[in-house]
Amino acid sequence: MKTLTGPFSQILTLEDLPLNGAIDDRRLQVIAGAGVITDQGLILETGNFEELYARNPGIQVEETAGENVLLPGFIDCHTHICFAGNRAKDYSMRIQGKSYLEIARNGGGIWDSVIQTRAADETALTALLQQRAERHLNEGVTTIEVKSGYGLDVANELKQLRAIRKVSESSVAELVPTCLAAHLLPKDFPGTAADYLNHVLKDLLPLVKAEDLAKRMDIFIEESAFSSIEALPYLRAAKAMGFQLTVHADQFSTGGLHIAVETGALSADHLEAVTEKEINLLKGSSTVAVVLPGASLGLGLPYAPARKLLDAGACVAIASDWNPGSAPMGDLLMQASVMSAAEKLGTAEVFAGLTFRAAQALGMNDRGMLIRGMKADMQAYPCNDYREILYHQGKLKPHMVWKNGVRRL
Ligand code: NIG
Ligand code: FE
Repeated sequence: MKTLTGPFSQILTLEDLPLNGAIDDRRLQVIAGAGVITDQGLILETGNFEELYARNPGIQVEETAGENVLLPGFIDCHTHICFAGNRAKDYSMRIQGKSYLEIARNGGGIWDSVIQTRAADETALTALLQQRAERHLNEGVTTIEVKSGYGLDVANELKQLRAIRKVSESSVAELVPTCLAAHLLPKDFPGTAADYLNHVLKDLLPLVKAEDLAKRMDIFIEESAFSSIEALPYLRAAKAMGFQLTVHADQFSTGGLHIAVETGALSADHLEAVTEKEINLLKGSSTVAVVLPGASLGLGLPYAPARKLLDAGACVAIASDWNPGSAPMGDLLMQASVMSAAEKLGTAEVFAGLTFRAAQALGMNDRGMLIRGMKADMQAYPCNDYREILYHQGKLKPHMVWKNGVRRL
């Protein structure tokens, strides 16, 4: 049923902003005393509340009195929230000065989460994922990409992807599954990295396809995981099977971004280690640069050069990387706000990175702006001026959230 929701102190539709490059805040269109008309889960129109009401006599009204600024729901385009256990031990060693890679070599790291996740059955894993998806929804995140990658054998990767599917059917937030079987060469695999990737292609991906468990494939290209040389044929084969590609690239060392661009990946994520030379690779490419401030905060390492990426014309999305190892916090708005202060990202650039640019990283064009025909995924903050949202650095949380036009908070 057609519904007019409002009034709002301000609505930011995020329309008419560029997909690539820097954005001046003056380009943000702010509607004051605003309302939004939705129908069947989609946006029909935004505008002045009183005008919309006068033009639509008898329309059902959903009242939202008080201070409130409405934005599109956030899209977290990179998470690993399907895991069991935790890695507080790793964290404690890191803050005593041990590095992520050192800890991984000494029994911690991704492999430790694989052991803990393999030990959980599908029901337990589903419950953990459900809780995390709910927490994200309550913080305004209405679409969540979720990777496997803590199973690392056929049965356990399928278990993770099935848990993601179950939660995507039962949760309010929409989950977008990605198969990250190429997260690490599993310690119990009897063969080389190339053998393992061939095994994934031959024995896992056909099952993922048959059950339609994921349409996206990811790989961690890094000295401690897979090399560019190993990744290239793997990604090409996955693409030939019909999968969309995304890459963990240039986190500690370079090489991955090159492969991401060469294979036409939807996104290259991390990029903390890129220099001018790698940034230039993005020019003229449609690959989205996804920066992950939560991993920098969790590891105590520098951020990806988001400012330089934007100034070079890249499409920069911001995601949480929420995972038990490098990014345990999982608070997307807090991370984006803190990064914006350090990297000098304007409000328009941050909001774009959390919405329509993140949608682009997922290959989705039906969400991320409050314009006619897009999903009515929306969130409102208890303030009068949109600038207060980043100013509070994540402590100001949405007090209202809608998914597909239905209010859920
Ligand atoms: O994106 N870089 C590789 N993967 C994750 C970390 C996963 C983990 O440490 O468990 C990341 O940071
Ligand atoms: Fe990651």
